[in-house]
Amino acid sequence: MTAPSGIPNGIPAEINIGLMGLGVVGTGVAATLLRENSHLSDLIGRAVKLKKVLVRDLSRPRDIDLPAGLLTANAEDILADPDIHILVEVMGGTDPAEAYLKQGLSAGKHVVTANKEVMAKSGPELLALARANGVNLLFEASVGGGIPIVGCLMNELAANDVRSIRSIINGTTNYILTAMAHQHTSFEQALSEAQERGYAEADPTNDIEGIDAAYKLTILASLAYRSTFQPGDVYCEGISKLEPQDFQYAQELGFAIKSLAIANLVDGAVQLRVYPALLPAEHMLAKVDGVYNAVEIDGSLCGQVLFHGMGAGREPTTSAVVGDLIEAARKMGGPSVLPLELPNGSGIPVRPIDDLMSRYYIRLGVADHPGVLAQIAQVLGDGQISIASVLQKDVHPETESAEIVITTHPAREASVQKALQIITELPQVRRVSNTLRIEE
Ligand code: NAP
Ligand code: HSE
Repeated sequence: MTAPSGIPNGIPAEINIGLMGLGVVGTGVAATLLRENSHLSDLIGRAVKLKKVLVRDLSRPRDIDLPAGLLTANAEDILADPDIHILVEVMGGTDPAEAYLKQGLSAGKHVVTANKEVMAKSGPELLALARANGVNLLFEASVGGGIPIVGCLMNELAANDVRSIRSIINGTTNYILTAMAHQHTSFEQALSEAQERGYAEADPTNDIEGIDAAYKLTILASLAYRSTFQPGDVYCEGISKLEPQDFQYAQELGFAIKSLAIANLVDGAVQLRVYPALLPAEHMLAKVDGVYNAVEIDGSLCGQVLFHGMGAGREPTTSAVVGDLIEAARKMGGPSVLPLELPNGSGIPVRPIDDLMSRYYIRLGVADHPGVLAQIAQVLGDGQISIASVLQKDVHPETESAEIVITTHPAREASVQKALQIITELPQVRRVSNTLRIEE
């Protein structure tokens, strides 16, 4: 069939989209494709049509009225249809999403995905498959919701050697931490609000335990350092260990608590970590609240650049997915896939967390007896850990107990962990309640 005038042969006059998933994100994508159809077609220069939508449960009530015949529970209706040109995957998880992505790419379909788990674990393999099949694989929505950070690292910031990435890249945990710090909401209540708003993953453990942020950091670091990293390279701690006292004491010390995802170069190796940390209250990242995310890139040419925006939720994520869809449609017919690693495969080593140099906040439950503090100070001193401040809080005469909050000067992670092991065994120490790093 000859294409209409102005459209080269081999490129369809109408671009058909197969959408996999009609949940929080899929509903936003479908609604935008239907509502903004003529605007999108104008932007792309060709008609676009939502041809099929895959769900798991056809009987489930939906937030959207789709034209008849669009919904299917059979993935082959999309994967085996040669007239579907772009596959948009917003199902989540690895199984069966990863297999569908591979099948779609192998069948010559361009792919847009919001799936950070699949991209973090198998991104290089999928990109190689895309390249082998001459199609695009775009994944802007996999990190930072509506923040255009993936494309910027691939393109606009590509001339830089990235010294560090410091980021808040999980909307659910930032929503929870903000509610706990400012509204004194309980952890459970804040999580349930984040779920109702559509921010959380299907299994919110991934958000709370830092796993989702580790996936996203893997993607950002792979792009920034042109190297292949795996989620297992990221040292990861969640926010579930935080207690109301930590927010109170952090505030008294002039800090906010944020779950940070950090990648930085130290002597030619990359340190990758996700954990809740104390940040000076006046730091820009400390002011990023609610579902907002922020990514600070320190580049050799650009210096410090800060991206800020809504990191989760239907509309921001739809913005990223549909933006990729427009790009994929515009680029149809031309090669444009970038690898996630250097062509020569040179990889940057990962530095273990034991080597981290950081300041620490240590909260201890102790017997309120003479000499306890001296014993603790002795252990820290023996480990070459210098104390910056000590607070004694929450003294309970009836149980002869108190809380001690210690902050340290920069110390080596391995030394601090070793000292904490010894401190835990001191007879007067009832518990090491929490240890958090302090980021300056
Ligand atoms: P969601 O609300 O749970 O929706 C998932 C959709 O996929 C549902 O429509 C579900 O069908 C469908 N689905 C799941 N497994 C399926 C299977 N085996 N076969 C057919 N359909 C299946 O998830 P979401 O929040 O939209 O997230 C989707 C993806 O976007 C995930 O990778 C997530 O990490 C990513 N993401 C989400 C956000 C966000 O703010 N929510 C932001 C950025 C990226 P049913 O409706 O029939 O159950
Ligand atoms: N669950 C994720 C978050 C969705 O809360 O950030 C956005 O990727």
